[in-house]
Amino acid sequence: MKKTIGVLGAGTMGAGIAQVAAQSGHAVILVDSNNQQLEKAQAALSVILSKLVEKEKITAVEKLAIENRIQYANNLEDFAPCDLVIEAIVEDLAVKNAVFRTMEMHVSKQCILASNTSSLSIASIGSVLENPDRIIGIHFFNPAPLMPLVEVIPSVQTSAVVLNDIVDLIRSWNKTVVVCKDTPGFIVNRVARPFYGEALRIYEEGIADFATIDWAMVQFGGFKMGPFTLMDYIGNDVNYAVTESVFQAFYFDPRFKPSFTQKRLKEAAYYGRKSGRGFYDYSVGSTMPQPTMDENIGRQIFDRVISMLINEAVDAVFMQVASIQDIDVAMTKGVNYPKGLLAWADEIGLEEVLLRLEDLQLIYGEDRYRPNPLLRKMVREDQTFY
Ligand code: NAI
Repeated sequence: MKKTIGVLGAGTMGAGIAQVAAQSGHAVILVDSNNQQLEKAQAALSVILSKLVEKEKITAVEKLAIENRIQYANNLEDFAPCDLVIEAIVEDLAVKNAVFRTMEMHVSKQCILASNTSSLSIASIGSVLENPDRIIGIHFFNPAPLMPLVEVIPSVQTSAVVLNDIVDLIRSWNKTVVVCKDTPGFIVNRVARPFYGEALRIYEEGIADFATIDWAMVQFGGFKMGPFTLMDYIGNDVNYAVTESVFQAFYFDPRFKPSFTQKRLKEAAYYGRKSGRGFYDYSVGSTMPQPTMDENIGRQIFDRVISMLINEAVDAVFMQVASIQDIDVAMTKGVNYPKGLLAWADEIGLEEVLLRLEDLQLIYGEDRYRPNPLLRKMVREDQTFY
């Protein structure tokens, strides 16, 4: 029999996760303390499914069946029949702990309890449980129904059976699953930091403006969007908060140091597209600044950012955060990178990447640019990732 799935929180992520589970044929119980959020989620789902019917991706009968599979509720007691509950409420450990403690009292002994948290440790969320071996991280990307990647994060408490069950289940939802250690930022939010941070640093040094840096990353790297365009999409409030949380979680390692430039934008409420202004001005009548298309500078910008990204991906391998394959898959499916960073490293040549990093470290004398020990070892032993 298909498992019954509970989703706690009917916001951006919870509503999307409920849709994914219902479209995969599960009975879903979507709980939110706020009735308006539930109504909003229900109405939004109807609109999304109608569009899928129009595009002939699903039939009108299927639309109805999907909608009928979701039960909207207010209380944690309503999770009683669930085999799995995925929590997607506010990113606050005290609130999540209180909810998990209560939730455990209302579900069966076998029910798996998961969190969609982006920045809290799974160990800390599970610490309040009577049976902490049932805790696991299931990290979807926004929008959950469209983004193929899901990071699955077993914590020190998670049992092997729970991990296996969840990997199988999420794969059956047509998602690409990567398994990663319970470390800050998991894979994607950790490895992607230099895409933003190094671009900001290059701007702050006056090497190039936003438009030129964006152009360089698209032109020479084949990224779909440059870092400043992307930060404006994500929202400078959200992107800054992730950077700051990763920086703190890594005990202030300078590799992850946040940028004053972005902090000021956040403070000024220049969040990006959603507020009409960020790095760029999106108000009606404004024109986008043009890049200075200097091949030399563009190439230097791209070489510097990609070397820093590769160094971070190598560190994730070195620290055994995930497998080489999963790290590459995470970046291509979670943030649409044109290539996996470790495959990219092989292509550029590990020795070349190491030289660039050593050069940066020499010029700046900063720990931020230290080449990863694994990179050094692999170059010395003439190894490649694939
Ligand atoms: P949101 O603010 O859109 O939705 C949160 C929902 O939880 C709201 O509907 C709120 O009414 C409800 N809620 C809050 N406290 C509650 C409680 N005690 N009981 C029941 N319902 C409660 O938040 P969003 O963006 O969906 O994020 C949720 C979680 O997902 C967070 O942990 C976040 O870190 C994580 N996440 C967010 C991503 C994003 O891009 N927004 C991506 C991946 C993970």
